[in-house]
Amino acid sequence: MFITFEGVEGSGKSTQAKLLVEFLSERGYKVTLTREPGWGRLGELIRKMILDERDLDLDPFSELCLFCADRAQHVRDFIKPKLQDGEIVICDRYFDSTLVYQGHGRKLDKRLVNKIATASTLDLIPNITFLLNLPVRTGLTRLQTRGDITKMDEEPLEFHETIRQGYMLLARREPERIKKINGDRDSSEIHEEISGIVINSIAKES
Ligand code: TYD
Repeated sequence: MFITFEGVEGSGKSTQAKLLVEFLSERGYKVTLTREPGWGRLGELIRKMILDERDLDLDPFSELCLFCADRAQHVRDFIKPKLQDGEIVICDRYFDSTLVYQGHGRKLDKRLVNKIATASTLDLIPNITFLLNLPVRTGLTRLQTRGDITKMDEEPLEFHETIRQGYMLLARREPERIKKINGDRDSSEIHEEISGIVINSIAKES
């Protein structure tokens, strides 16, 4: 089973991904946590290029290609082999991030982004995607108190609003796969909802 987490900056998705890993490991499942961008040697280089190099003015199309290059490598060399070994793989951000950040945020042609982002999954679509939804300002305030700010986080408020709306649109289009979760709550309450959905879905599969 392949599960992904999505959301605006500071939405709490990374915390929830970790809580889910602990929950499933305690119940005896073999589970792996990973994230995008940044897996492996290529991923590290790409992550640095896109998010840390503040004086590298990337063209949006170049940015799109870099995120997708990172993904294809990650899927082929890490995620697919883990799934073939029967593990549950949980990924913090995946191709929905590209659809929303590069399609809606950077305003690239949405059909083109959809094509390239979908191709970069090498036909691996998540079984469940949790979309942590909360007001953009709440997320950004959380980030500031945490202090790890990337180039993307520094985009203006309107950019992040566009991202949130893009996610809402995706969730409406694919309600079966994308589970919208109210992220403006206590993390234990959110975790309970998420783990309930996963356990139900595992029971249905077996
Ligand atoms: P990161 O520091 O991993 O933070 P977080 O996932 O907690 O927000 O930053 C990753 C950034 O890259 C984030 O701002 C979203 C962006 N991103 C894209 O623009 N496109 C993509 O395809 C992916 C995977 C991420």
